[in-house]
Amino acid sequence: MPAPPSSILIIGSGVFGLSTAYSLSQNPLYANTTLTLVDRSPFPASDSSSIDSSRIIRADYSDPAYAALGASAQRVWRDTSPGALGEGRYSESGLVLVADPGRDGYVRDSLENVRGLLEGGAVRELKTRREIDAVVGTGGGSGQWGYVNWRSGWADAEAGMRWLRARVEKTGRVQFICAEVVSLVREGKRVVGARQRDGIIRRAGLVILAAGAWTGRLVDLRGRATATGQVLTYLDLTADEQGKLGKMPVLLNMSTGLFIIPPRDRVLKVARHAYGYSNPTKIQHPDGSGNVIEVSLPRTSIDDPSQWVPREGEEDCRAALREMIPSLGDRPFTKSRICWYSDTPRGDFLITYHPELDGLFLATGGSGHGYKFLPVIGDQIMNCIGGECPAEFKQKWAWPMETMENVVTEDGSRGGRPGLVLQEEARKGSRL
Ligand SMILES: Cc1cc2nc3c(=O)[nH]c(=O)nc-3n(C[C@H](O)[C@H](O)[C@H](O)COP(=O)(O)OP(=O)(O)OC[C@H]3O[C@@H](n4cnc5c(N)ncnc54)[C@H](O)[C@@H]3O)c2cc1C
Ligand SMILES: *[C@@H]1O[C@H](CO)[C@@H](O)[C@H](O)[C@H]1NC(C)=O
Ligand SMILES: *[C@@H]1O[C@H](CO)[C@@H](O)[C@H](O)[C@H]1NC(C)=O
Repeated sequence: MPAPPSSILIIGSGVFGLSTAYSLSQNPLYANTTLTLVDRSPFPASDSSSIDSSRIIRADYSDPAYAALGASAQRVWRDTSPGALGEGRYSESGLVLVADPGRDGYVRDSLENVRGLLEGGAVRELKTRREIDAVVGTGGGSGQWGYVNWRSGWADAEAGMRWLRARVEKTGRVQFICAEVVSLVREGKRVVGARQRDGIIRRAGLVILAAGAWTGRLVDLRGRATATGQVLTYLDLTADEQGKLGKMPVLLNMSTGLFIIPPRDRVLKVARHAYGYSNPTKIQHPDGSGNVIEVSLPRTSIDDPSQWVPREGEEDCRAALREMIPSLGDRPFTKSRICWYSDTPRGDFLITYHPELDGLFLATGGSGHGYKFLPVIGDQIMNCIGGECPAEFKQKWAWPMETMENVVTEDGSRGGRPGLVLQEEARKGSRL
């Protein structure tokens, strides 16, 4: 294992960066290492992918390695004792996964995996629409075949992040900086720090780049990871509706990617886990050569405060709402958001040293499923930094040797249409 550096700079305070800071602060090996965490937004960064009303917490994966890691994270989420992560932040509502014939491979494999992980009773195959509707209990449903896992649920994402942030603060080991990093600072083939927009240069023995969907601005990830925008819509409920729907399971249609998470504080969320929108943006090549390259980068409510999802996205959410909860079918959406995934070809995280630049470690590629690992991913990232990446993830999280012309995530979980471009869809209009 490489000797611990005297200083580590982490760029990005989302699930990946913040959990890494925590793990490093707890490891005696890094007892003499200065830890600095820089983020462009004050915490909590409202447009980061780790901050939202809710995230699904599941071990329901078609891939056994992520299923097992998900199960280990769930054990922590389920601890609702005072002060524990799960206290008031996690709800084991159950998860109904449905898919159309021909697109049901992911759901069938996932069913096998969770059956292997769980004792009987928690997981039940749903063979007809009637069985699906009965379990969902909203007067609606979706699809013809699927299963329910009563041992999955959802978390209040922002509350989980606040809990983690407080734990990191309490260690007293991490210096928090609010500044935007505009470039990495190199000396030859070595990254020695980062330059902030205010001109300040922060030097470090190791730089950990965990800037989520923005990472491609600071290092060339073309063909390996890309930012994709995903559609979220929210609507208000009455107290009575909250009471009734608060007990529904999460419902996810794997064919369209549309899902509904049980409401919290009288707000219901309808969203789409799909191929998403790209936002091609011309930037200076991060290598400092002066060349201009085009990469997809996030465009969020911070860039455009009046941002509303494109019409096609809202229409999809509307159709899902009509099908899944017919009584709310015409209720207007009061809020919408485009949330950005750092997407990789197979939905694998990118947790690895950069192959050419010394002193640079990447912890990104969340691919729309990283949040649930909040209690366990920091240790995994730390192990990979120390050269001890777990065997089952060594290949998956490594720097990919091949590149793809345009990264499209084919992990089996994505619905909808690939190839949508945000500006093109936005031009067709928004707000129904
Ligand atoms: C709509 C949506 C739904 C999702 N649903 C689920 C789910 O149900 N279950 C699940 O497990 N996962 C889900 N995910 C995925 C999960 O949220 C992400 O994988 C995870 O949050 C990624 O964390 P991160 O730390 O990589 O990125 P982020 O949380 O985005 O953090 C990156 C941070 O970097 C900062 N930053 C960026 N650029 C710079 C810069 N130049 N200088 C300084 N700071 C910078 C940003 O401000 C931000 O705080 C979902 C994601 C989205 C978008
Ligand atoms: C940290 O510094 C102390 C005091 O110099 C030293 O005793 C200890 O071995 C160091 N720990 C590590 C992990 O380097
Ligand atoms: C998914 O949603 C679409 C659109 O509402 C619907 O036609 C299809 O039957 C659904 N499929 C499943 C498996 O739920």
